[in-house]
Amino acid sequence: MTSTQSSSVNAVAPVITIDGPTASGKGTVALRVANALGWHMLDSGALYRLAALACMNRDVSADDEPAVAKVARELDVRFNAEVWLDGSCVTDRIRHEDVGNLASRIATLPALRAALLERQRAFRQPPGLVADGRDMGTVVFPDAELKVFLVASTRARAERRYKQLIDKGISAKLNDLMRDLQERDARDAGRSVAPLAPAADAYRLDSSELSIEQTVQQILEWCRERSGQSR
Ligand code: DC
Repeated sequence: MTSTQSSSVNAVAPVITIDGPTASGKGTVALRVANALGWHMLDSGALYRLAALACMNRDVSADDEPAVAKVARELDVRFNAEVWLDGSCVTDRIRHEDVGNLASRIATLPALRAALLERQRAFRQPPGLVADGRDMGTVVFPDAELKVFLVASTRARAERRYKQLIDKGISAKLNDLMRDLQERDARDAGRSVAPLAPAADAYRLDSSELSIEQTVQQILEWCRERSGQSR
């Protein structure tokens, strides 16, 4: 490799992608991995949720693809410790089921996905980025250093979500949660654009029987192995 080539490669910040189905724990795991490495973090699902909430606020129908894409292009969002939409703090609001369900519906629209693509890539900044979502390794960052596909059984994911809701004082039924997860999985995996699927070069990690810490440590170990190989 010439020195010009090597400096242009170094100018691109490294990326770790963590993709997987809903409630697989990717968000928590990605944040811990990012903190351990001192890297930036992209929660791409939050962008889809913000687009969904903006559509709700503007009465834009999920069936009106051009209008949904326009909302996404003009999204006025800010991330710090909280998440902001049009100047309002929406950190908790975007986690509600109605917003998640609409996000899953509009995520099937190619124009919406195209509108969010460059926004997601802009998060790639030195010293590095940990990106979590559904298509981080396949579409948004196909050249990522390390790609992880994080899975867990439907029961394990439903039990985690059940515990989170009960801890927050929100009543829930395990069977309903399992059914919702299966429906959302089917929609995310069955859509024609950027369906949920592991990249060909992704490491598959089943966290059903692992703690968050064990999951994080496994990813950090793969990261060390990969950066050792590329040196
Ligand atoms: O990860 P999450 O539950 O916050 O994501 C909300 C929805 O957004 C999810 O049902 C599918 C969609 N999504 C997507 O299609 N692609 C991504 N990279 C991230 C999320």
